[in-house]
Amino acid sequence: MSLITTLTRDYLTRSFKPFIFTDNYDTALDYENLQNLGLYVHIPFCKSICSFCPYCKELYTPEKCNAYIDYLIKEIHMVADGDGQRAESGQKGVGIRKEVTSLYFGGGTPALAHNRLGEIIDAVNEHFIVTEGIGIELHPDNVTPEILASLKSAGVTKISIGIQSFQEKYQSVLGRKAVDAVSLKKVLDQVPFETVSFDFIFALPGQTYDELKSDIDLAFDCGANHIAIYPFIDFSFATSGIPVMKKNEKRRLLDDITNYCLSRGFVRSSIWTFSKGEDIRYSSMTRDNFLGFGCSATTLLKDSFKINTFSVQEYIKRIEDGKLPTALTIRFTLRQRMMYYLFWTAYSTRVDSAQFEQFFGVPLKKKYGFEAALAKLFGFVTEADGIYQMTLKGAFFYHYYENYYTLSYIDKMWNCMRKTAFPEGLRL
Ligand SMILES: C[S@@+](CC[C@H](N)C(=O)[O-])C[C@H]1O[C@@H](n2cnc3c(N)ncnc32)[C@H](O)[C@@H]1O
Ligand code: SF4
Repeated sequence: MSLITTLTRDYLTRSFKPFIFTDNYDTALDYENLQNLGLYVHIPFCKSICSFCPYCKELYTPEKCNAYIDYLIKEIHMVADGDGQRAESGQKGVGIRKEVTSLYFGGGTPALAHNRLGEIIDAVNEHFIVTEGIGIELHPDNVTPEILASLKSAGVTKISIGIQSFQEKYQSVLGRKAVDAVSLKKVLDQVPFETVSFDFIFALPGQTYDELKSDIDLAFDCGANHIAIYPFIDFSFATSGIPVMKKNEKRRLLDDITNYCLSRGFVRSSIWTFSKGEDIRYSSMTRDNFLGFGCSATTLLKDSFKINTFSVQEYIKRIEDGKLPTALTIRFTLRQRMMYYLFWTAYSTRVDSAQFEQFFGVPLKKKYGFEAALAKLFGFVTEADGIYQMTLKGAFFYHYYENYYTLSYIDKMWNCMRKTAFPEGLRL
């Protein structure tokens, strides 16, 4: 565990207590009264596996994927029924469906299951009302008129396509094939969506600002109205062997890309994302609370966080036995939850103290007034009307810290979960 992450955590949580995850879990999740609740569904299948990719996924076969979806639908009903407890207390039924902001399908390559998406969405709609649209991740190979039409008729309003780079040399570094921008544009023109996002990876060896600039221009020319430019992260268990770019080079690239996007009038909707307008968003991460369904999916509630097993086989077995596929759960201390809240809210580049107070029932300044003043003093944020807005400098340091966070927590947790379907516990 890197010292910098541990010291920051100890200070911000005012405690030396690590994050303790255990294998005992709640059968009925307490989400009814939560505001700003999002939904996430994980579909862990891909046609081929990329060596740099850390996500929970395995090779696609229609049989495996279909069997998985049968159980995924069961999990949605199990969570919504609260192991029968909600039904018994008369909370279930038409008219009391819970309002949720969004529903995102991630993976893996969830668009491979496009013909079953309608069934999953029907199961979700039995219990929830999705108010801000449905999003799904696509591999460029999925961008065909048939698949896009199928997604649209299932109710999808936002798509995100994993381009990675329009430059052939970086696709070969990543072990992927070149993306044909002309045919991409043709298909996207044929079947329009409210949000069309393209994913790119930056800080690949030798990558220059001019190359990234031309990728960004081409993305918007092809019909994207949102882009996500993720820094390459070398996960300890990934086998790509791609060298990591030096810190200074990375900073220059991030600053240059940001300035370029802002100069073109794009809105920075989060640390890595830029869009053509305030209301165009694609993010499953910036939610105060969320419920996750499927292998590796996480759930964040008022004072707890849980993660499902990474094993498709064990996931199915657990649900067959009438049990939730939860592998690990952490019950946060108040300060831990505040730190988690601030970390992910800051990801959107702004923290609103009124929203913090609404969530925790205590003013932000009372809990983190000194840190907020320090962040202002160092030029990481500006403040107006209780809203802290991250500066370019702040965004770089967030990015820098996020890398530590990912390698100290996410990398360790996913590495553990890849090896053991249901670990006894985990301390981070
Ligand atoms: C689930 S994939 C997207 C959909 C589809 N499976 C595909 O690959 O096109 C999510 C995104 O995560 C990003 N990603 C994966 N591994 C990464 C890594 N090691 N560092 C940074 N970004 C990564 C890629 O940009 C990828 O498009
Ligand atoms: S990057 Fe996409 S296609 Fe490649 S392994 Fe990861 S999820 Fe699958």
